[in-house]
Amino acid sequence: MKKFYRVLTVAIGAVLLSTMLSGCGSGADAGKRIVRIGHNQATDHPTHIALLEFETYVESKLGDKYNIEVYPSELLGSQTDMVQLTQTGAIDFCVASNSILETFSDNYTLFNMPYLFASSQAYHSAMDDPNITDPIFESTKKAGFEAVTWIDAGTRNFYTVSTPIYSPADLKGLKIRVQQSPTNVEMMRLLGGSATPMGFGEVYTALQSKIIDGAENNEMALTSNGHGDVCKYYSYDMHQMIPDILIGNCAFLDDMPAEERAIFEEGFLLVNQVEREEWTKAVEAAKEKAANDQGVEFIYLDTAPFQEICAPMHENVLGQYPDLRPFYEKIQEYNQLYPVEAAEGGLEE
Ligand code: GCU
Repeated sequence: MKKFYRVLTVAIGAVLLSTMLSGCGSGADAGKRIVRIGHNQATDHPTHIALLEFETYVESKLGDKYNIEVYPSELLGSQTDMVQLTQTGAIDFCVASNSILETFSDNYTLFNMPYLFASSQAYHSAMDDPNITDPIFESTKKAGFEAVTWIDAGTRNFYTVSTPIYSPADLKGLKIRVQQSPTNVEMMRLLGGSATPMGFGEVYTALQSKIIDGAENNEMALTSNGHGDVCKYYSYDMHQMIPDILIGNCAFLDDMPAEERAIFEEGFLLVNQVEREEWTKAVEAAKEKAANDQGVEFIYLDTAPFQEICAPMHENVLGQYPDLRPFYEKIQEYNQLYPVEAAEGGLEE
């Protein structure tokens, strides 16, 4: 299956390359610049819905010049592959998890810290603050790409096939899939589980064949990616709020006339807004579907023991990357403004 997938990816790559060499479409699209955007979610996911809005918006304004094409479901490869394709300009944009970007620039380590944000209001406000995000988003320009907006990906929690997690002790001896980022591997090590880094597209099969005992993600992974067919316990330890990031190729963005760039910028804003609205609805629907159709039990637990174990990571990361401290401090201001929240249905009462 994996081999078939690779062959498929190579074949798609070859087709892409042949049309890309001309850079333009054919037939009705002749003369238009084809803009390719890749992501790894299914077509029912808020990210895909938001990117289709981007396509509609940009084409409504600049449809004579650009043909926007959105490729879902890792059709253009894994997130790591897509970031590399965006870097070189083989594609123009892709959505990558902040975790994956950590392997391209240390600056992204900031948003991967466990328990960085006290609440989703603090998270949203910090990510909306250009004083925090701009320096980080622009820091990869020399590497050929820059972040053009962030995308909400909710809160990450542990979920397991057959062993419910109530406390960190329950993770002991369990193989848990994490994203391929040093911060996530370290977090898992501290919490006592056995970190198994792999790409998102491989997780379902790994769960099904019991190569791993569980994973960690937002609720959408249960339904949109089918992980809830295999994993029956979802435990709200709320360890990370990791944004997804829409990145673009710098040469493409910089070569664009200013009036066209302005339309694209409006489109990026739209991606952020539409996805955020869709996200709230999608998570609610996912929880309902997971509980009612897939038989997933949602566990609301005391997050404090998880938080205490992870706490030293903040100073460790800041010690390693001192330039990140001012942004970290700014995030703390938002945390004070919008303090702690529990998962809905959780331990507040
Ligand atoms: C979320 C996130 C993706 C990421 C995935 C993962 O779905 O939105 O960008 O790839 O988690 O765990 O790999």
